[in-house]
Amino acid sequence: MATDHTTQMSAEAKIEALREELRHHEYLYYVADAPEWTDAQYDKRMNELKALEAEHPEWITPDSPTQRVGGKPKDGFAKVEHSRPMLSLDNAYNEDELRAWADRVAGGLAGSDKVRYECELKLDGLSMALQYVAGKGGEAVLRSGITRGDGTTGEDVTSNVRTIRSVPLHISAAKLKAAGLPQQFEVRGEVVLPQKAFAKMNEERIAQGLAPAVNPRNAAAGTIRTLEPNIVAQRRLEFFAYFLLSAGGEGKPAVGEFLLDTQSAAIEALGKAGFLVNSNTRTVDTIEEVMAFIADGEAKRDGLPYEIDGIVMKVDSTLQQRRLGFTGKAPRWAIAYKFPARAAITKLDDVLFQVGRTGKVTPVAALAPVFVGGTTVSRCTLHNPDEITRLGVKIGDYVSVERGGDVIPKITEVIEDKDHPRGTQEIVFPDACPRCGEALVREPGEVDLRCVNVSCPARLEEELRHFASRGVMNIEGLGESLVAQLLGHTLAEVEAIEGEEVSVEAVKDADCETATAEPTRAALVHSIADIYKLTKSDLLTLERIGEKTAESLLEQIERSKKMPLNRVLLGLGIRHVGERTAQALADEFGSIDALIAATEEELTRVNDIGPKVAATVREFFTNDRNLALVERLRGYGLTFTAKKRERGTKLEGMTFVLTGTLPTLTRDEAKEKIESAGGKVSGSVSKKTSYVVAGEEAGSKLEKAQQLGVAVLDEAGLLTMLV
Ligand code: IVH
Repeated sequence: MATDHTTQMSAEAKIEALREELRHHEYLYYVADAPEWTDAQYDKRMNELKALEAEHPEWITPDSPTQRVGGKPKDGFAKVEHSRPMLSLDNAYNEDELRAWADRVAGGLAGSDKVRYECELKLDGLSMALQYVAGKGGEAVLRSGITRGDGTTGEDVTSNVRTIRSVPLHISAAKLKAAGLPQQFEVRGEVVLPQKAFAKMNEERIAQGLAPAVNPRNAAAGTIRTLEPNIVAQRRLEFFAYFLLSAGGEGKPAVGEFLLDTQSAAIEALGKAGFLVNSNTRTVDTIEEVMAFIADGEAKRDGLPYEIDGIVMKVDSTLQQRRLGFTGKAPRWAIAYKFPARAAITKLDDVLFQVGRTGKVTPVAALAPVFVGGTTVSRCTLHNPDEITRLGVKIGDYVSVERGGDVIPKITEVIEDKDHPRGTQEIVFPDACPRCGEALVREPGEVDLRCVNVSCPARLEEELRHFASRGVMNIEGLGESLVAQLLGHTLAEVEAIEGEEVSVEAVKDADCETATAEPTRAALVHSIADIYKLTKSDLLTLERIGEKTAESLLEQIERSKKMPLNRVLLGLGIRHVGERTAQALADEFGSIDALIAATEEELTRVNDIGPKVAATVREFFTNDRNLALVERLRGYGLTFTAKKRERGTKLEGMTFVLTGTLPTLTRDEAKEKIESAGGKVSGSVSKKTSYVVAGEEAGSKLEKAQQLGVAVLDEAGLLTMLV
């Protein structure tokens, strides 16, 4: 008995020690930006903790580092009233307006007090209120995260907020003490999606044929309202704390009141408690210094890993803040200095129609060149006919063009005032393909118009570029201009490649069949496979291609024959098959022949593949021309080797048994997840089983697990092991 007791104690102590250690290293990684552990070291400890917790599920607490990704909110997000309204800020756009605000502040304080200003960056995300409550051992634990909503009532998005690594789930008594914070309090701040995460998200959306999100703010707002904590966890949102409020309690200010005497002290305390606070803050005495902070902020803006849209000035003393109070929707004690928007007004001169790799016809705005967000923009996609309808745009209109960070320029609205009269010319979509003349088709349920002629030269050109590009077959040197030359264009024509699309003007003008120059010479390439037939003497007939370039190009082409199956699949340009889908197909079927033979039903069984994708894949491989293409590629020596995706190692050596209905995952999905993390799935429970994952109506397998003392997990438990 005594031994039992000691082992129990030590397991419990070990769990707690591991948790503290993991929390500390999460802090170093996600908040302090000074990691001391490698990812592998982190994973190892995390796995130890998961294993111990799986043995002692009774000790799992929601503030454990293993519990970031849990179950989905069942009935959507509940509405919750804020402890005190979440207001917005008044704006200033220049120094005069800022000085006018400072004068109002001085007036409001009867002019006698000295005022200090605390300057912060204005993060461009969405505001969030986090409630912390007392834990058992003197610590504070995260209870809830509420969006701003209408300012009075927000939505409880706790399950998603928990996945944000810079949000502490647990703040130790020692940290609270160091920060001078009570066990319960409310923190407000901004949830942002860093530029890199935003770019990655948009790449994925584009690969899936979805329109990219306009800016990181919209993307962050959309993400936080996603009902899948798993997805939110992958997006890598961040939370910056900038506001500290009392949650009441003995001897503390009333709920919703300020907890500390100054805003700068609040920021410092939040930093000490382990929150991510913006290090770019400064407390100053004069408006001159405020202006200097603004200038610094503007200079830093482009180099920051997240978007800011201005600077926030706050009266530092919370006592003064209280005296100043609020006007309608905003506090009198703060103001936002907004940076000039990364938007500009310019004229829409024309709309061109480009034919893409899949035959999709995209309207592209030809704009009077305008400098916006650091570059000159003269082209900008209008995506599809619906977007044109939504904007209500006509040729000759003045439009607002926005560009944030490294974001693609976007037309956001039509401008109409006395200096910017409306244009008059309707944007008419062509009926026929601007390149080959074939009638365009709009498939039911689709917004895009498409050229369905598989031999359309525009499609071939895009197919070739795509096939050779870096993430696909990676044939270095086979870029835009060489592709055009291979298709018979001279370099002079290549120069004009930008102007190749047909314009609305051309569509209108019946005499002008197409705006595209016919190639001068005979094409060397008529299909993707022809790339592999090219000889040195072929290449030497092209302009600006010497012996050396020709040789290295042929080497690159030769090398590409060994590209794995997933890359070749991607290269074939099957609609809806992006990087992830291509990988999933290669993993599942293992060879091109198995894939060709796969039925639609088999395809649908693959993770991430829905009926629409399954149908297009099936359709692709029933088309004789495509099958012939595959055969030709094989004939030229392409190996189509299925390189298995690197298997994860998180669950290596572990065997799982699935039983019952899991709340969100199907049996196959759970199996796939376990296997891709290196684990095994077995059909029956034995002593060797590491875990039984039990869902609703789990039957005899669960009983057996209990008899044998095998650890039982629910879906959430399984998911945390995978993170
Ligand atoms: S303080 C009473 N500080 O800007 C309002 N807000 O335009 C207190 N924001 O809704 C807000 N960075 O979402 C504050 N450092 C910062 C901020 C910030 C971004 C957002 C916040 C607010 C909006 C107002």
